[in-house]
Amino acid sequence: MRLDKLLANMGYGSRKDVKELIKKKRVTVNDYLIKDSGMKIDTTSDLVKVDEQVVKYKPFIYLMMNKPPGVISATEDLYDKTVIDLLPPSVQHYRPFPVGRLDKDTEGLLLLTNDGKLAHQLLSPKKDVGKTYYAKISGTVTDEDIEAFLEGVILEDGYQTKPAKLSIISSGELSEIEVVITEGKFHQVKRMFEAVGKKVVYLKRLSMGELKLDNTLKLGDFRELNDKELSYCQSMK
Ligand code: URA
Repeated sequence: MRLDKLLANMGYGSRKDVKELIKKKRVTVNDYLIKDSGMKIDTTSDLVKVDEQVVKYKPFIYLMMNKPPGVISATEDLYDKTVIDLLPPSVQHYRPFPVGRLDKDTEGLLLLTNDGKLAHQLLSPKKDVGKTYYAKISGTVTDEDIEAFLEGVILEDGYQTKPAKLSIISSGELSEIEVVITEGKFHQVKRMFEAVGKKVVYLKRLSMGELKLDNTLKLGDFRELNDKELSYCQSMK
């Protein structure tokens, strides 16, 4: 990889900024001052430093966020704040994107990465990755609803969902439930409850496969995946 590309990818500004750094003698490779910004770097063996600080090359980033309500899970939006706007520039330069979407008003676990292959695998219907949601439902959720979800409910457009596992935490005028779905259709959980005559009034994603929302993350906070979480993700590829 070219030295200027490597440094630009690692957040040292544009290629032009990087050229400037090199011109100012702030960059060394294997402890030699470098003049050629197009120098080819072997990212596994060459030691690149800027201002004596080692630049560790990392092509991919994997983050979990506790998505707050009111932001869009997309990389850009004309009107609203996006989850990417919640990340600092030191993370944004990796160009992460959300793996799948949560509605604007949905909270909870959102994975962000720049690893397209992983995103594809996690979202692939073939992989049957279970996504667990906690929800508050206006209306009494019943054992019949559990049965209906297990069979797959028919949405308003005629689509029959795959079986979903519904568990009732409390049932009443405002019920609390957890549901595990393996698909990711638009507004799926909300539409599944509409199909049984009820309304989701609060929705939060708790997990995706073995990735569980870190409950020390406040709304809007994020962190990098730990080794165990990462190896789970890698096993999906
Ligand atoms: N189902 C929904 O209805 N909304 C979400 O954000 C996620 C799943």
